[in-house]
Amino acid sequence: MSLLELDDVKVHFPVKRGVFFDRTVGHVYAVDGISLSVTAGQTYGLVGESGCGKTTLGRAILRLNDITSGRVVFDGTDLAQLPAEEMRRSRRRLQMIFQDPLGSLNPRQNIESILAEGMAAHGIGADREERRARISEILERVGLPAGALSRYPHEFSGGQRQRIGIARALVLEPDLIICDEPVSALDVSIQAQVLNLLEELQDSMGLTYVVIAHDLAVVRHISDVIGVMYLGALVEEAPSDALYAEPRHPYTRALMSAVPVPDPDLEDNRERILLRGDLPSPAAPPAGCRFHTRCPWRQPERCDTERPELTDMGGGHRVACHYAAEIAAGTLRPTTELAPRVLHDTAEGTEPPAAAPAGDAAPDGSGPGAARGA
Ligand SMILES: Nc1ncnc2c1ncn2[C@@H]1O[C@H](COP(=O)(O)OP(=O)(O)OP(=O)(O)O)[C@@H](O)[C@H]1O
Ligand code: SF4
Ligand SMILES: [Mg+2]
Repeated sequence: MSLLELDDVKVHFPVKRGVFFDRTVGHVYAVDGISLSVTAGQTYGLVGESGCGKTTLGRAILRLNDITSGRVVFDGTDLAQLPAEEMRRSRRRLQMIFQDPLGSLNPRQNIESILAEGMAAHGIGADREERRARISEILERVGLPAGALSRYPHEFSGGQRQRIGIARALVLEPDLIICDEPVSALDVSIQAQVLNLLEELQDSMGLTYVVIAHDLAVVRHISDVIGVMYLGALVEEAPSDALYAEPRHPYTRALMSAVPVPDPDLEDNRERILLRGDLPSPAAPPAGCRFHTRCPWRQPERCDTERPELTDMGGGHRVACHYAAEIAAGTLRPTTELAPRVLHDTAEGTEPPAAAPAGDAAPDGSGPGAARGA
């Protein structure tokens, strides 16, 4: 059963200019037509590079940003239509945790006061004693000592502060938690601990997560379904295993080819797709397929003019590319102009191979001009 459904959600920020009067001179199309569904008790991983609209989408779900259009249906209710007071009450069930826990914790409040504040606002716990008992129980569940109650945020390490952020969400007894880059600011060794904690809590408390990250490796193990965003839209969505086994959108293939492989031999010899060009501005997204300015498989006319819909290719594997089937079958080759630069590691260092015309790519996609995901 789906707990959260997004239907064509758009968040466009107006760009204003003018000395005396603010004139709207354009829009930032931060989120531009996202439809997805999050199953109760599961984790939806949302990945994409910086500025593609992940945080804006997370905030829009909680209505911390205004939604330009679309529906955000949480447990059968369209949050986009709720009056402010009802939305405030619903927010207890939808919580968000942030990349920078220190920035979101008031340095002058001790941990008990930080955690009790939200509980009091939502009428959880009859009095201070009851709230304190609940907070102590949750602190223990997230692996913090009971003595943490009277301490202040700066007295904790980065990993512990993220645990406090998680506890602050949990004391409100939420159903859905949006975790925005929950481990990006942490050391790699601590990242795994925090991700494991999130998984344990999900199992024991029946939580549903949306986990946002710019790094595919972070969401891989924790996610049931992964959505890949590019310039405000989903380009691919699939069950986690299917996405890693066979990434189908050219952008996902490029992202995937940047993820290191644990086997040193494979890692040394694997090929990498380096995308050309910069991420276009979300204030002036390219027409047609938004990825066409960087796509090695771009075809004239259609890719430049017609925006591809997210289409199910079977088994819930949805891809927004006009040529996904041909690329998967190896019958469409990368074009010369934007042919991926495939690097081969050599004894001297990483060297690009001699330029090969696109026509040299073998039909199975294994030629030197071909691109492969890792
Ligand atoms: N309040 C706002 N007003 C105008 N533009 C905004 C606002 N908030 C975000 N943006 C723009 O919307 C786009 C998407 O931003 P967002 O923070 O959602 O990206 P992100 O995917 O979370 O990036 P990151 O990985 O860096 O956190 C960016 O171009 C950003 O500058
Ligand atoms: S629609 Fe065209 S430009 Fe877009 S990803 Fe597919 S091949 Fe590339
Ligand atoms: Mg962000």
